[in-house]
Amino acid sequence: MLPGATAALGGEVRINSGKADPCKALALHLNCSRPVGMVAWFRAATALSDRLLRVTCRKNLMRVAVTGAFGYSGRYIARRLLEAGHSVLNLTNSGNRPNPFGERVGVSPFHFDEPSKLCRALQGVQVLVNTYWVRFDHRLFTHEQAVANTKVLLRTAREAGVRRIVHVSITNPDLASPLPYFRGKAELEAFLQDLGLSFCILRPAVLFGREDVLINNIAWSLRHLPVFGIFGSGEYLVQPFHVEDFAEAAAREAEGNDNKIVQAIGPETFSYRELVMCIARALDLRRPVVSLPPRLAYWVCRGVGWWVGDVVITREEIRGLMENRLFVDAPPLGRTRLSEWVRQHRDTLGRHYTSELARRLDRQSEYRSN
Ligand SMILES: NC(=O)c1ccc[n+]([C@@H]2O[C@H](COP(=O)([O-])OP(=O)(O)OC[C@H]3O[C@@H](n4cnc5c(N)ncnc54)[C@H](OP(=O)(O)O)[C@@H]3O)[C@@H](O)[C@H]2O)c1
Repeated sequence: MLPGATAALGGEVRINSGKADPCKALALHLNCSRPVGMVAWFRAATALSDRLLRVTCRKNLMRVAVTGAFGYSGRYIARRLLEAGHSVLNLTNSGNRPNPFGERVGVSPFHFDEPSKLCRALQGVQVLVNTYWVRFDHRLFTHEQAVANTKVLLRTAREAGVRRIVHVSITNPDLASPLPYFRGKAELEAFLQDLGLSFCILRPAVLFGREDVLINNIAWSLRHLPVFGIFGSGEYLVQPFHVEDFAEAAAREAEGNDNKIVQAIGPETFSYRELVMCIARALDLRRPVVSLPPRLAYWVCRGVGWWVGDVVITREEIRGLMENRLFVDAPPLGRTRLSEWVRQHRDTLGRHYTSELARRLDRQSEYRSN
């Protein structure tokens, strides 16, 4: 170690101002007592520049705004960013949810109606990771509103000097689709690409993890209902992506520079029927899985929704599933296999129903996990 350099925690090297004879210093560094020759000088200089490079890289830490950092995927992304040494600002309308990160994460409301406040909150932020979206139209929120709000967020981020945006979309967004989820996501992708900032668009199909809704609620239905009804043939495809793999990709892309669109899918592709059977097998449940006309299955889900006080699934979501919109022909990005994960979580998965609406109506509580 050079006398002018001291090691700090975590392998960082701080350069201090101690004066020392450079020759002696290099001799010490090379573990030799004699003055050093050209080769040794070169070796020492290379080692030092390597170390300085590592210090500089480590110091390239950013302030990253993450939407919904006390929610589902945003929480995993925030954790990854903090672990990499970055600081995180949580943009949310649910700032009173339990904060798992303590003072390491600041909180600001979205301020969609007052962009000047949002702009102030975003001062000093280099990267925005945007997960904000609404799952379905409801009397309290709509896709149309979510599109308009997201445009405010993205535009204001640019005004505030944000350099890069990592934006979460969906597989197969489509400007021509009658489905507002897929159409709205396509509109936002186009808006982002025209904004002139560096961007990465992540397109997940279905996320799974401890706080997920779909996989947990399939398991819950299998546990609680005598028969599992699927929409039509059940032969349409889904590619579940683990939320930790997703967070890893989002955090990596936050540190990147390239403009790109990434298909965020896991290593396994299931037909919807296979997905249900896979979960049933893991839970050791033998339930008949029957095809129902999609309209009838929708009304059954409406009945279950009334029972649990939630929107279990919408007509548009059924249509999106059946149109194969949660499938893309692309190499997997994640490593975690849903079939293994479900087996590992068989004791807890589906024990409780996970309500999307409860998350929206109660903005104080932590997201329920399976
Ligand atoms: N979960 C999946 O299986 C899945 C699949 C494909 C794509 N995606 C995409 O991944 C992104 C993140 O999804 P996530 O499941 O991790 O979401 P989430 O954490 O539940 O919510 C993400 C953000 O959206 C806000 N939000 C959600 N629903 C809202 C509503 N009805 N009204 C107002 N604000 C709402 C949350 O607000 P608060 O901060 O105030 O809570 C949070 O900031 C979304 O863009 C989604 O389209 C998710």
